[in-house]
Amino acid sequence: MPTVQHVRQHDDDEPLTMLTAYDAPTASIVDDAGVDVILVGDSVGNANLGYDTTLPVTVDEIASATGAVARATDEALVVADMPFLSFGADQSESVRNCGRMLKEEDADAVKLECGPHTVELTERLTDLGIPVMAHLGLTPQHVNQLGGFFRQGTDQDAAERILELARRHEDAGAFSLVLEHVPANVAADVTDALDVPTIGIGAGPDTDGQVLVITDVLGLSERSPPFSRQFGDVKSEMENAVGDYVEAVESGEFPADEHSHVEEDVDSLY
Ligand code: KIV
Repeated sequence: MPTVQHVRQHDDDEPLTMLTAYDAPTASIVDDAGVDVILVGDSVGNANLGYDTTLPVTVDEIASATGAVARATDEALVVADMPFLSFGADQSESVRNCGRMLKEEDADAVKLECGPHTVELTERLTDLGIPVMAHLGLTPQHVNQLGGFFRQGTDQDAAERILELARRHEDAGAFSLVLEHVPANVAADVTDALDVPTIGIGAGPDTDGQVLVITDVLGLSERSPPFSRQFGDVKSEMENAVGDYVEAVESGEFPADEHSHVEEDVDSLY
């Protein structure tokens, strides 16, 4: 069973695997498949809740999803992704929101979309026993500031800022670092510079692990980013099952005798 310490000390040849999940049945499948880390991503906003961005996702929504995922997970490390403005504005409120994920929802750690404002918070949370997975590169909660979901770290200064922030978060106690949508060579350099593992998404093959959004993997997303890959076609399976159900009800084929019960002791009621 991977712990935060196992992930922090990861130095295997085999990359770490991380996938998102937002509900119990999906978490159970992901866990049984042997994924190391399940991220209860704020991507639930786009993936499952019908929002255009992750910004509207609430602490209650992440808490509810985290509880469901944790109850269905036996082996994987469960990481709760802290939503927009649930951290960073006020230190005490940030600590309470993050602590709630461990105390009430049984998460093992939290993930923070990072910047200079999260260095001190990472140290405080780590001191309090709340392990932090940092996230740099494209941080979708900054979409309005960035002007879109663009690749980050594409010039020397920007790449150096990512590396500097990565080092500062490692020093502050982060046990791992997600690198999203950055050039593969930048991700490789950051990976070389850190002791803690990096987990990439759209960051090339040289990070210590990979993460994808589960709906992209399953073929359930309306749109997926160019760096993602669809590994299955669950949408077609669902369309077939739902279509078959409608047809069976409309034709009278369902429910059949084996789905029904007649109580002999009850006479006609009128
Ligand atoms: O919310 C999420 O799913 C994420 C991953 C893309 C890393 O932050």
